[in-house]
Parts: sequence; C-alpha cells; structure tokens
Amino acid sequence: MTIAPTIAVDTRPAASDHRNLDRAARRVLVTNWRARATVPATKLYPHQWSWDSAFIAIGLRHLSPTRAQRELESLFGAQWHDGRVPHIVFDPDVPGDAYFPGPGFWRSGSANAAAVPTSGIVQPPAHALATWATYRADPAVAHVRGFLPRMYPRLAHWHHYLLTRRDLGGAGLASIVHPWESGMDNSPAWDAPLSRIEPAPPGSFTRRDLAHAPAAERPTDLDYGRYIRLASDYRDAGYADSPSMHAFAIEDPLYNALLIAGEHALADIAAAIGRDPAPHLATAARLTAALVSRLYDPAANMFFPRNVNTGELVRSWSITGLMPMIVPGLPVARELVDTALGNRFRLREACPLPSYDLTAPDHVPGQYWRGPGWVNTSWLFWHGLRLHGETALADDLRDRLLHRVLETGFREYVDPLTGTGHGSDGFSWTAALTLDLIRAA
Ligand code: SER
Repeated sequence: MTIAPTIAVDTRPAASDHRNLDRAARRVLVTNWRARATVPATKLYPHQWSWDSAFIAIGLRHLSPTRAQRELESLFGAQWHDGRVPHIVFDPDVPGDAYFPGPGFWRSGSANAAAVPTSGIVQPPAHALATWATYRADPAVAHVRGFLPRMYPRLAHWHHYLLTRRDLGGAGLASIVHPWESGMDNSPAWDAPLSRIEPAPPGSFTRRDLAHAPAAERPTDLDYGRYIRLASDYRDAGYADSPSMHAFAIEDPLYNALLIAGEHALADIAAAIGRDPAPHLATAARLTAALVSRLYDPAANMFFPRNVNTGELVRSWSITGLMPMIVPGLPVARELVDTALGNRFRLREACPLPSYDLTAPDHVPGQYWRGPGWVNTSWLFWHGLRLHGETALADDLRDRLLHRVLETGFREYVDPLTGTGHGSDGFSWTAALTLDLIRAA
C-alpha cells in the first residue's frame, strides 16, 4: 500500500502528515491481523514470524495494548519444550504450499505443548524488550490479564536456551546456526561462512517467495540451496545443538545486543512482579563484556560477527555492527555514532540506515539485506541514540524516517538514498514502528 499520492508532503503541516500516516499505519495492522497474531505481509509472509511480532507489538501497543499482548502470547504459545521460540508459527488455515519451507519441511511434531506447527530455527530475541514496552503502554490492562507473570518464565526459558544450548563459542555469547536466524538473511556478512555449505540440489525444492517479489530483490537460487541444506541438516539431526555439528555458527552483534537489552528488560519485568532482577543484570554485564572483547574492533570503531568455526571476525560492514547501540552502558557508543556518521552509513542523509556499507563495491540498494534500509534496524539505532543521550541525532533520524515512510509507503525495504521502495508493501513492522515513532515526535 502506497500512501504518497493522497498526501501532499510539502504543503501540509507536520501534525496533519502525522495524522494521515497514523491512520494509514493502523489500516496496515488491521488488514494484517489474523485470529491470534499479525502476518508480516499478506502474500510473501502469510504466517507469524518471531522477531516481526516483537516489533509489531511495539507499535500495536498504541493501537490496542491487549492485541499487542496477544501478539506476544501467541508466539510464546508455540515455544518449544527446550525453550526455543521458533522463527515461524504456521497458521493451519493457510494452504501448505503458500510459503516454502512450510510445516511439512520442518516437521516440528510435538516439540511444543500445543503441537502447533512451527519452524525449528529461531530469530533475534527482541521479545523481552517488546514485552516490557507493551506492558508500559497500559500496566492496568496488563495487570488484569496477568501478562507479565505469564510472559516472564517463558522469556527466561527462551533466553536460557540461547545462553546455554547456543553458546557454541564457549565465551557466553549466543550463536546463530542459519542466516535466517540473524533476521538479515542475505547479508554479505554471511557470504564467506555460507560458501563452504554444499547447496541442496536446485530441483529438490520450489521457492514460493519469487511469486510475490522480483528475483532481483530476493536471495539467489544458490543462496536458497544453501539455506535449505542447512535447515534440513539441522532438522535431520533432531534440532540438536553442539559446536561440532553446525557447519554455520556465528556470534552476531545484533543478535547478542538484543539478548543483552532483553536481559535488562527481564530485570525490569522481574522487579515489576516481585522477582529478583539481579541475575539478569549480572548476565547482561557478563555478556556486554564478552560482546566488546570478542566482537568489537577498536581500530575500526565497529562490531563484526565472529565465525565460530574458524575463530575469525567477518570483516563485513553491515548494519549488524552498529546495533550494539541498544545495549545500556555500552562503553563504545560514541565510537559507533562516529561510524554511523561516516561514508559507509551516512546517518545524516541515508534513510532508513543502509543494511550494508554504501561504499562497498557489492552494495546493492534494492536487494534483500545487501544494501537497502529497513525501518526496524533504524528504529533500533534511534532507540540506542536516545539511550546514550544523542538526542539531536535521534530526533533527526526519527523525523527523516517518518518523512521517508510518508513518501514511500509501508514498504519492506527501501533504497536509503533515493527512497525507492522494495519487497512487500503493507509491511507490518514498518507500519507498527511508524506508529511508535509518531508518538515520540
Ligand atoms: N526471512 C526469510 C524468508 O524470506 C525466512 O524467514 O522467508
């Protein structure tokens, strides 16, 4: 859905623009709501996605605090017995071939108590942050519904899975075992670690994503073959986690920054329900030290992913390296701001913040995570700027993000310099985070 034609950006006062944008964003979230949750986009992503739901709840709380709570509760209703929160919860009313890989591929069986069909991999842990934000939108309603006491043990179990089963590097940080787990599927940062994976044969699966988005804006068939190989190997090993079995194992800055910010949120949640916040604060402090010592390069003023299998940093300048801005008390926040202001990310002009180095020869401004900007990572950076007292930069980023959405509509991703929209339209987290940014204006 593109709203630009109905709104005269230059001639209306900001308050009126915001009112129209607010209305249009609400319409997207109403259209994309299903019985228990919101789909990221009606055609390309017709089920519930894990980190999408976290960002959706952050916006939905302004529209309906109860629905925002249900968004998170339905996701955690599919949590596995081992604590993992699957990256997709399948809607049984959607035809099995609407999305690939669907429930028949993942074979989750009775991995969760309700036997709800899900995928077997995970996504970035934005959920504790979203739960705390959702609670604060309407503590009275949350209290009546018992929201925090119900979510707390589930969130703690989820983090425990990541902190134990996924500590593949042995230094405390969680590892991702599939590019889809990063949320930034096709990032150039994964090219080298993925290159050693034997792709599944091209004829052995049928992609569905290309029916809904141009091939030039999506991952290549070769990448997809590797994604399928990694996922089927994990499935065939019974979704076991051990350092020796994962051909792809990465300590990702964004993933771990969300885990740390999530431990801070869990401390707040624990305190609100009369539990001890101290263990969460201790975990956050321990992980922050590990994040800085293992993934930060002081010569580059940047965090980089670490390939656990080779022990090496992946020196690719993708947006993940700026995301530790969301960590409370991060000792190198000012350095990250300097990097964001530089030519690679051009914080003052590029909007949303590019997913990948604007100066890199392989930057592609319209291809999935290989250049375009996404509203969720920009929202996280905005949140981090505010957290670290960079108010003027935060306000400027917020205003330009809102202006960009006004021009482009609620697209999935956007050329950060020209504003050309790509991927899905009517994208839920773009609309949800727009609602949140409007309220901070
Ligand atoms: N984001 C991936 C997709 O495009 C996997 O969840 O389907």
